[in-house]
Amino acid sequence: MLSGVALITGAGGCGIGAAISRAFAKSGCTKLVLTDMNRDTLQQTVQTIQHAWASSSNSQNEILAIPGDISSPSFVDSLFSDLKSKFGRLDYAVNCAGISGNNAPTFNSTMEDFDKINGVNYRGLWYCSKKELEMMKQQDWPSRTDIVDEIRRQRGSIVNVASQLGVVGRPDAPIYCASKSAVIGLTRCDAIDASPYNIRVNAICPGIVHTPMTDNELRPSSAPADSTSAGAGAENAEAEAGSGKDMQGPMDLTTAVNIAPMRRMGTPDEIADIVVFLSSEKASFVQGAAWVADGGYTIN
Ligand SMILES: NC(=O)c1ccc[n+]([C@@H]2O[C@H](COP(=O)([O-])OP(=O)(O)OC[C@H]3O[C@@H](n4cnc5c(N)ncnc54)[C@H](O)[C@@H]3O)[C@@H](O)[C@H]2O)c1
Repeated sequence: MLSGVALITGAGGCGIGAAISRAFAKSGCTKLVLTDMNRDTLQQTVQTIQHAWASSSNSQNEILAIPGDISSPSFVDSLFSDLKSKFGRLDYAVNCAGISGNNAPTFNSTMEDFDKINGVNYRGLWYCSKKELEMMKQQDWPSRTDIVDEIRRQRGSIVNVASQLGVVGRPDAPIYCASKSAVIGLTRCDAIDASPYNIRVNAICPGIVHTPMTDNELRPSSAPADSTSAGAGAENAEAEAGSGKDMQGPMDLTTAVNIAPMRRMGTPDEIADIVVFLSSEKASFVQGAAWVADGGYTIN
C-alpha cells in the first residue's frame, strides 16, 4: 500500500508516532526516517520494526533514526540534510511530535508556557512542514509501476497530527488547544498551496488515546536525546530534562473519556491505521481534511 520514503517525527516509545512507524513498516514502506527527542525510546521503535522485518526476505528495508528536538530549526536542518543524502526523496511525512499543555487557563499561564507548547506543537511542526514541502515540490514523481489509476498519482503526502482539542475547547488548555487549531489552519492552507504540485496535506485529530501523554504509567523514565547525536536540539532537550519542570501533572481523564459516546480511549494503532490510509493513494481525493477520530467526543 505504501512504497517509498517516509519521515515520522515523535516516533519513539509506545505512543501514536511509534504506532504510525510500525504501521508504515507493515504497509510495505521500506525506507523509514524516524526521529524523536528521546534517544532510548526511538531506539525501541527501531528495534521493534527491525524485529518484525527480520522475518521478511526484503533486503531493501532501511531505517535512518536520528534523535533530536524538532523545536530547534538547526536540528531540523540537519535532519533533512541527512535524509536527503541518505534517500534523496521524501514520499510521506507524518508530523507527530508534540507535547501536552500546562493545565492552566490563560490568566495563570506564562509566556514561557506559551513558547514551550507552541515551540513544538506549532512552530516546530511548521518548520518540519516547510522542509517537507520544499523537498516534495522539487522531486520527481515516484517511479512506481503499481499505480492502477494515473489520476491518483501523488508527488508526496503529509499528515499533521492535530487533536480533537484543535476542534473543540476544554478547561485549562487554551495554549494546547490553540496550538492544535493552528495545525488545522496550517494544514488547510498548505493543502491549497501544495495542490498544484500533486502533494496532499491532511491532519488527523485524535480524541483521547492511551499513550504516555494520557497515562503517566506509560511515560519513559529515560532522558531525551543526548548531545552527542541530537545536534542543536540536544541543548533544549537537556535543559528540559534538567529543569525538573513537568508540563503534565497526574490526570484523571474519566470525565473527559465519558464525553465520547464510545466511552473509551482510542489506541495508538487505531490512529495509525487512519494515517496510513490518509498517506496512501487510496486517499487520493482527500485534501486539507482534519480527520477526527475520537469515539464521537466532538459530536456529543
Ligand atoms: N494521546 C492523546 O490523547 C492525543 C490526543 C490528540 C492528539 N495527540 C497528539 O498526538 C501526538 C503524539 O502524542 P502521544 O499521545 O503519542 O504522546 P507521546 O508522548 O507518546 O508521543 C510524543 C512523542 O513526541 C516526542 N517529542 C516531544 N517533544 C519533542 C520535540 N520537541 N522534538 C522531538 N520529539 C518530541 C516525545 O519524546 C514522544 O515520543 C502529539 O502531537 C499529541 O499532541 C495525542
